[in-house]
This record gives sequence, structure tokens and C-alpha cells, in this order.
Amino acid sequence: MTTMQAITDQNGVKRYMVNLVVNGDHRTVVVKANTLLVNVLRDHLDLTGTKKGCELGDCGSCTVLLNGKPVNSCLVLAVEADGQEIVTIEGLVQQGDTLDPLQEAFIDHAAVQCGYCTPGMILSAKALLAKNPSPTEQEVREAIAGNLCRCTGYVNVVKAVMVAAKRLQEGRGADHEG
Ligand code: FES
Ligand code: FES
Repeated sequence: MTTMQAITDQNGVKRYMVNLVVNGDHRTVVVKANTLLVNVLRDHLDLTGTKKGCELGDCGSCTVLLNGKPVNSCLVLAVEADGQEIVTIEGLVQQGDTLDPLQEAFIDHAAVQCGYCTPGMILSAKALLAKNPSPTEQEVREAIAGNLCRCTGYVNVVKAVMVAAKRLQEGRGADHEG
């Protein structure tokens, strides 16, 4: 911060003009000092793939990538994200509407049940594979440790991440094989 422009409205409330790069697009939002990034994504930018659960930093359902690192967007102030790059689950869909290999593997291996944890889980896995393309199961479990899932028991989630890593290593993306 802060080259951010501050605006005071007729009620004396100060707001800030925040510039973000979200899924590759430059976006400008006007927010209060205490507005959370998760609320900017969902309410200002209509990117409701980012879920809100605990709003306390405990569940990971609000995970997004901030400059490539997974963060709980309920713990980040929008003003703190000024000038930063953010990737949400919507940003993983590739050109031609192709799903990311992680998304494909989650579908193929029944790693999605209610789906509430899934966007955050996939983004944590995405960050892992970016720095460690060939993780062990233990490394996958550690990478998603902050993403709570009440449905799957994690077994199929870990399997899906391992499969996506393997497919990416083999350069074949999603092909609906094991
Ligand atoms: S909603 Fe952010 S960690 Fe639970
Ligand atoms: S699939 Fe329901 S919380 Fe994970």
C-alpha cells in the first residue's frame, strides 16, 4: 500500500480505491478499510466460487491464491491486496472452457461431494503442484491440511491430486483415465 486513493462519502465514511488483478483481469473496487478480500470477491466481483465457512481462518473454504500462495481470503483485508494478483477457482478454467487437470481429476475420482470445500482444496493443491510437481501423498495431505472437508474423508481428494500430478507430469492433462 498505498498509492490507494481515499474517498470520504457524505456520511464521513472513508473508502479506498483498490486495484487488483483477479484471474488475469485488472479490477478496481471501492471498499471500506475493514472490507475482507473474500467479500470483495464474492459480493463486488461476483466470484462466488470462493466459499465462506468459518470466517475465522479455520476451515480453508475461502482459499484463493495471492501472488501464487494459498491464503484464507477471510483473513485478508481488501486494502492489503491492493496491487496484488489473485487467482480464484473461476480462474482455473482454461482457454476454450477446459477444466484444469485438478478439476478433472476431482470429478473423475469422486473427490467432490457437497463441494463446499472443493474450490479451496483445489487451489491449495494447485499451489502445491506449482512448486512440487511430483508430491508424495504425505506432501499432498500437508498441503491441504488447512482445508477442512466434512464429507469425503480426504482419501479421494488425495487420490485426485496424485492423479492430476501424474497426468501433468505425463503432459496429458485430463483424459479420464486412472
Ligand atoms: S471462511 Fe475463511 S478460513 Fe473459513
Ligand atoms: S465435499 Fe463437502 S465439505 Fe468437502
